[in-house]
Amino acid sequence: MKTIGMMTVAATVMVGLWGGTGWTQEKKSEGTPKKVIGMSQCNRGEPWRVQMDADVKKAGEVAGFEVLFKDAQNDSLKQKAQIEEFINQGVDLIIVSPKEAVPLTPPVAAAFKKGIPVIVLDRKVVGEDYTCYISADNKKIGKAAGQWIVKQLNGKGKVVELKGLMTSTPGQERNQGFREGIKGSELEIVFEADMQWLEPNARKEMQSALSRVDKIDLVYAHNDPGAHGAYLAAKAVKREKTILFVGIDALAQEGQAYVEQGILNASFEYPTGGKEAIDVAKKIFAGEKVEKNITLKSRVFTKENLRRGGDELGE
Ligand code: FRU
Repeated sequence: MKTIGMMTVAATVMVGLWGGTGWTQEKKSEGTPKKVIGMSQCNRGEPWRVQMDADVKKAGEVAGFEVLFKDAQNDSLKQKAQIEEFINQGVDLIIVSPKEAVPLTPPVAAAFKKGIPVIVLDRKVVGEDYTCYISADNKKIGKAAGQWIVKQLNGKGKVVELKGLMTSTPGQERNQGFREGIKGSELEIVFEADMQWLEPNARKEMQSALSRVDKIDLVYAHNDPGAHGAYLAAKAVKREKTILFVGIDALAQEGQAYVEQGILNASFEYPTGGKEAIDVAKKIFAGEKVEKNITLKSRVFTKENLRRGGDELGE
């Protein structure tokens, strides 16, 4: 990385005085220059993503890296351009949490093929042209949610499924896992919609569900903002007390707090992977081999287990 940082500037000036010529010489003479990481976040509008950036920032500071953050504002084309900018800038490593698999695959592959290590967080890209992918197991979370719901409803009941963006892999996998988890039960999906991970969309979709379906026993939303949006829609027509609400993410300040307040009946943890991404970056910079895919553990939080920190999902 050629720019940035007082140390680099100072070192460059000194090298200039010593009569150093090319960048390679300057870089060598300053000892260990700060590694620069480009981080492209698909949006900063949702608490979970703000948390991910905070986790990357904190771990990056401790590790002594310089992290350049970009917010793609939920626009895949913008995010593609951001990755291309990082490539042109010559950053040492890229972390990307992509909005959608298909449009973000070519820029990730381009960086990887140029020899820039790329760590993909949370949502997947297509194929294998990346250095490391880190996420919890979305299918497993969906399945565990399905099984938990079957138990709560004694195997029978009317369920609304509010899905995450179905062009993103966690939406697809949380749906598949859930359907597996409820297989063989008498649960009936009475309404389903793609709320694209967004609370206002979930609220609108739930309004439609409430106006069409007389009896709803439970809402399974693919994230906590979705579950909260559904709760607000039900509350507005005084039906929130007859419906159970289940979400995913379980941030302390969001999903876990909703469980504590009795808004959600359960929230399944989806760790951001921000700290783990920096751990992997450290290994890459040290020339160590890293695993291609890292699966993070997840916990379920309910009113009963909240105090003891939730329960880990079984196999
Ligand atoms: C935030 C978010 C989270 C969810 C994740 C899935 O954008 O919607 O709530 O768990 O993305 O990719």
